[in-house]
Amino acid sequence: MDRDLQRDAETTSMKSKHRYAICGLSLRGIYQYALPLLGLNRSGGPNFNDRAELVAVLDPDRARVAEFTRQTQTNLPWYAPGAFARMIRETQPDTLIVTGPDGIHCRHIVAGLDAGCGVITEKPMVIDAKQIRRVQAAEMRNGRKVQVAHNYRYAPLHKALKRMIQTGKLGRIVSTEFTYNLDTWHGSSYFYRWNRARTMSGGLSISKGCHHFDLMNWWLDDLPEEVFAFGGLNYFGKEGALRPRDAKGRPYSSAEEKRRCPVFRKHYTGKYDPAGNAIGTGWDTRFGLPYNTLYPPGERRYIYDDEIAIEDSYSVAVRYRSGATMSYACNFCTPWEGYILGFNGTKGRVEAVHRSDPDPTGKTNPAEDGGTITFYPLFGGRQEIKVEAAAGGHGGADFAIQNDLFIGESRESHQLELLADSEAGAYAVATGEAVWRSVRSGRPINIARLLGREKGK
Ligand SMILES: NC(=O)c1ccc[n+]([C@@H]2O[C@H](COP(=O)([O-])OP(=O)(O)OC[C@H]3O[C@@H](n4cnc5c(N)ncnc54)[C@H](O)[C@@H]3O)[C@@H](O)[C@H]2O)c1
Repeated sequence: MDRDLQRDAETTSMKSKHRYAICGLSLRGIYQYALPLLGLNRSGGPNFNDRAELVAVLDPDRARVAEFTRQTQTNLPWYAPGAFARMIRETQPDTLIVTGPDGIHCRHIVAGLDAGCGVITEKPMVIDAKQIRRVQAAEMRNGRKVQVAHNYRYAPLHKALKRMIQTGKLGRIVSTEFTYNLDTWHGSSYFYRWNRARTMSGGLSISKGCHHFDLMNWWLDDLPEEVFAFGGLNYFGKEGALRPRDAKGRPYSSAEEKRRCPVFRKHYTGKYDPAGNAIGTGWDTRFGLPYNTLYPPGERRYIYDDEIAIEDSYSVAVRYRSGATMSYACNFCTPWEGYILGFNGTKGRVEAVHRSDPDPTGKTNPAEDGGTITFYPLFGGRQEIKVEAAAGGHGGADFAIQNDLFIGESRESHQLELLADSEAGAYAVATGEAVWRSVRSGRPINIARLLGREKGK
């Protein structure tokens, strides 16, 4: 091929690559999006650099981005959040990937839509009903829809349940039970990370609960109408039950507190100095990047800090439009992680128990395989359905959703309605917001009212 032709071919292939910019070089941003886009995914998952390219990173933490680009030997341009417009002008992304802290998603989604970009956002889409309205108004004025990465739908066990319900095997769903437990390592981590501030995460009923509320809305193909919840801060925070105290009931110095703290003793002894500020965030095993903006090195943070004012345990009742109900419980400090799930339908009952073990030290409980669904027809023998495990995070969900987001919706995804839009994102967030508002007010919360969508309005 002569030089000009070769250059033309290269230009065409460069142009035809879809251009992505990442807003928030988070762990999620790196492992789920940046590495596969850069062709640097080494975890057995797919790479997409043949069809896509990462053209910019926006994040306030310059040192974090610099260390990432150094280790990956990429020349990714870095932009501070204030340089959003310049990033768009200089790097011309087709799509923004929104992966900063939850409370910041809204501003990047809206700015991206207004700049004419497509937007993929991590869950939760946003953190309250006001932000939902801002996102959906931006969608309307720009004629574009946001994609919300509700990856948990893609786990094989969750798809199998969806199929059972969709094909009518259970009849009409009358009631459901969903208990989700986070273990002492994973659950406690939210209480020293940014998630502990409601302004950053919406609280854990949104930041974490949105996964579960979205699953239930999707499984039932229904929408929540009313939510009532009890909840509290029981283990962590200033008065947390796990907080070590001296004989007079006073808290210890910060180093002594960690030395005596059962969470620190189990998960961090020998790894972090109790007298130092560093703890946790041990998920980033490949790069070990700094977090200088979110957690300035001189700042002490721990799970009993005064400013913690979110809940660590919830008991919730939800009524859906069809009349189906869910009893939901979520606890952020339990001995094993995973869930217990039950659906009662007019033709039978289905149960699933799934254990996962996010503790990277592997000290807690061994993780389970794909899981088992047990179906009890109302008038018949019990049937066990074994679900094969799939490779990738969140029970195989993470690799599967990447294909839909970067290549396009598969036939299965279309049939199971796997890709979530802003409306699905909105109801997952609104349920979580209704939970903490109900805990606070002691009253049931009407979802349509919360969203400003009551009849006649
Ligand atoms: N789908 C899932 O299963 C899943 C799993 C984990 C996290 N998440 C979501 O991914 C997102 C990131 O979570 P994480 O725990 O990986 O984050 P993280 O704590 O690893 O990183 C947050 C990043 O955001 C940056 N940041 C802070 N302020 C910013 C701003 N104004 N603009 C841009 N960037 C900013 C920080 O510097 C940091 O790089 C969250 O929305 C979280 O809920 C989803």
